[in-house]
Amino acid sequence: MIVKVNLPINAYEIKIERGILKRADEELNLNRRVMIVTDDGVPSEYADVLKTKCKDASLFVLKHGEESKNLDSFAAIEKALLENNFSRKDCVVALGGGVVGDLAGFAASCFMRGIDFYNIPTTVLSQVDSSVGGKTAVDFNGVKNIVGTFYQPKKVLIDPNVLNTLSDRQKANGLVEAIKMAATFDEELFGIFEKAEKFDDLDIEYVIGKAIQIKADVVEKDEKEAGLRKVLNFGHTLGHGVEAALQDTDRALLHGECVGMGMTVMCDEDVKERIVKILNVLNIPVKYEFDFDEALDAVTHDKKLNGSTISTVYVSKIGSYELRDMTKEELSSRLKLLLL
Ligand SMILES: NC(=O)c1ccc[n+]([C@@H]2O[C@H](COP(=O)([O-])OP(=O)(O)OC[C@H]3O[C@@H](n4cnc5c(N)ncnc54)[C@H](O)[C@@H]3O)[C@@H](O)[C@H]2O)c1
Ligand SMILES: [Zn+2]
Repeated sequence: MIVKVNLPINAYEIKIERGILKRADEELNLNRRVMIVTDDGVPSEYADVLKTKCKDASLFVLKHGEESKNLDSFAAIEKALLENNFSRKDCVVALGGGVVGDLAGFAASCFMRGIDFYNIPTTVLSQVDSSVGGKTAVDFNGVKNIVGTFYQPKKVLIDPNVLNTLSDRQKANGLVEAIKMAATFDEELFGIFEKAEKFDDLDIEYVIGKAIQIKADVVEKDEKEAGLRKVLNFGHTLGHGVEAALQDTDRALLHGECVGMGMTVMCDEDVKERIVKILNVLNIPVKYEFDFDEALDAVTHDKKLNGSTISTVYVSKIGSYELRDMTKEELSSRLKLLLL
């Protein structure tokens, strides 16, 4: 399946196909210097396969985890590009999850003011979400994604086969973003999640394609996040608060897990029941222990308060959404519902 991201300039294709990694040279121009950026949590066999497809590959392996998404790693990649004599005609390929994609994309966008960037996302989250939209970034001074660029890849290859090595928890984590897109735009896709009793019941190629199509439509209409792209924040306003309150603790939750929880309190009761049923199948908690004040603080401090309210995404009917301005008091009472 091919999804075209039809941007006025820098349009590109996302190709979803089992085994496409092994045919990367048929899809990408690898007949030049190629910097493959990956991390040590991505099975090395994937980079080995990709290397054999390149004329002149260099490999840059990060330590896995969000901690690597920083300016030091960025500088190390730029240095490797320089030392390997990369020119404007060469390219960077990200082979990994969202951390690798965001960082490698940012590095490519800055080297010589921008060299070609290809993305081969290898987690569910990066396949259904971060590979579309062209947002690149690193974390800085304790703030996530605060330094970065909008930089579209030349092409994205999605090989669902690489998900076989991903843990169930990571799979579920990424699926939440696809469930979010279904809940706000596509009841038919939502129904597919409702029918599945486990991950393997899903036609993952189809689910990824559908989710990407939805995100691509949103991005096409709002490339630089002026308005519509806000809808992608469903579940994120409160989810982010929970995520922030738990980060750096030994009970930290993954981003998608927090977003899943966040969705359940930003919708009508019947919608909530349907979302909770899916989260239960995915083993994602719907209530959790966290520092309430810290979470509320993160919700209200981090987001743009329009006067005394925050604009949030609310779902009263699956497949649609509305924007609702909520006061701190309303957000607080909804956040409380997530406390165990
Ligand atoms: N640019 C965007 O629009 C956008 C959107 C959403 C999220 N993000 C960013 O994405 C990042 C999160 O991405 P993520 O959830 O993919 O996390 P991640 O990149 O940290 O990957 C999760 C873990 O899975 C491992 N892994 C990757 N592929 C694997 C495979 N095929 N088999 C086994 N293990 C594998 C990684 O080594 C890592 O340890 C965050 O930094 C977030 O800010 C960006
Ligand atoms: Zn998200």
